[in-house]
Amino acid sequence: MSEPTGGPLPILLDCDPGHDDAVAILLALGSPGVRLLGITTCFGNCAVADATRNAQRVLALAGREDVPVAEGAAGPMRGATALGNYVHGVTGLDGPELPEPTVSPVAEGAVSFLYRTLTEAPAPLTVVVTGPMTNLGVLLTSEPGIAGKIAEIVFMGGSTERGNHTPTAEFNTYADPEALDVVLRSGVPVRMVGLNLTHQALATQPVVDRMAAMPHTVGRTCAAWMGFFGDSYERIWEFSAPPVHDPCTIAALLDPDVIRWRPSFVAVELDGRWTRGTTVVDLYDRYPDEQPNASVALELDAERYWDLVLAALDRLGAAT
Ligand code: RIB
Ligand code: CA
Repeated sequence: MSEPTGGPLPILLDCDPGHDDAVAILLALGSPGVRLLGITTCFGNCAVADATRNAQRVLALAGREDVPVAEGAAGPMRGATALGNYVHGVTGLDGPELPEPTVSPVAEGAVSFLYRTLTEAPAPLTVVVTGPMTNLGVLLTSEPGIAGKIAEIVFMGGSTERGNHTPTAEFNTYADPEALDVVLRSGVPVRMVGLNLTHQALATQPVVDRMAAMPHTVGRTCAAWMGFFGDSYERIWEFSAPPVHDPCTIAALLDPDVIRWRPSFVAVELDGRWTRGTTVVDLYDRYPDEQPNASVALELDAERYWDLVLAALDRLGAAT
């Protein structure tokens, strides 16, 4: 939702582009309701260096290389590094050719960039996370007081139902469960957009056709991304259309009615041999000693979602 003053909501986006992260970046850039202050990158869909380059290429595509990019974590707070190239390809954003960046990432790392930007902001900021939570997990561990400078964290991750990277764990939470645990215990207001929600955000053929029909490179590039992403989802998980996860977080900030939420206690499994990274979402208060620590997305108005995404792509494309 835009600020009470009616101006665009300033946001920071921490991501691992990634095809759906790329669409989230374009949704933010093409929507007057939010102002993207900066992008921080993380390992996840690909190695962090590739995620950084991909973020920069998406900004170049949008003609918005003025947005600063700060490179973040190459691996999780604890344990092995999981990568999602099996979904997103060798580059992490395989498919159509993209413009090469003409500027460099900022010299400071993601954690320093987040700390400085949050500290210098005149009011607490909204942080959107669409990859592993590592950068915020490290920041909140090293500087717990920064929690007071974060208005809310809206993250794509976890699920109230099954996982994807493992049968029970969604990729982002599997990649760094300790970081999500830090965030859930931080006291910062959290909104969780899990697979149960994002599997309602399917880029069906009519949606892809609308992207492909746009008279500009932004729309046609997104259509091609959906082609690659859709092939991965059909090959691995037998989806007939790809769930475009990450833009759901941005859409939630643009339109309060696009998602239905429920306050719930959420925990993340850290130790289970088969269940590490699984989010346990107590929708029906079965743990009476635990209070809700997150607002959990349950239902998407898919038509409103795609109208938001496609309108943003058209605005961006018309301006490039
Ligand atoms: O499980 C889906 C999530 O993992 C999305 O954010 C996708 O981009 C990957 O990061
Ligand atoms: Ca992502």
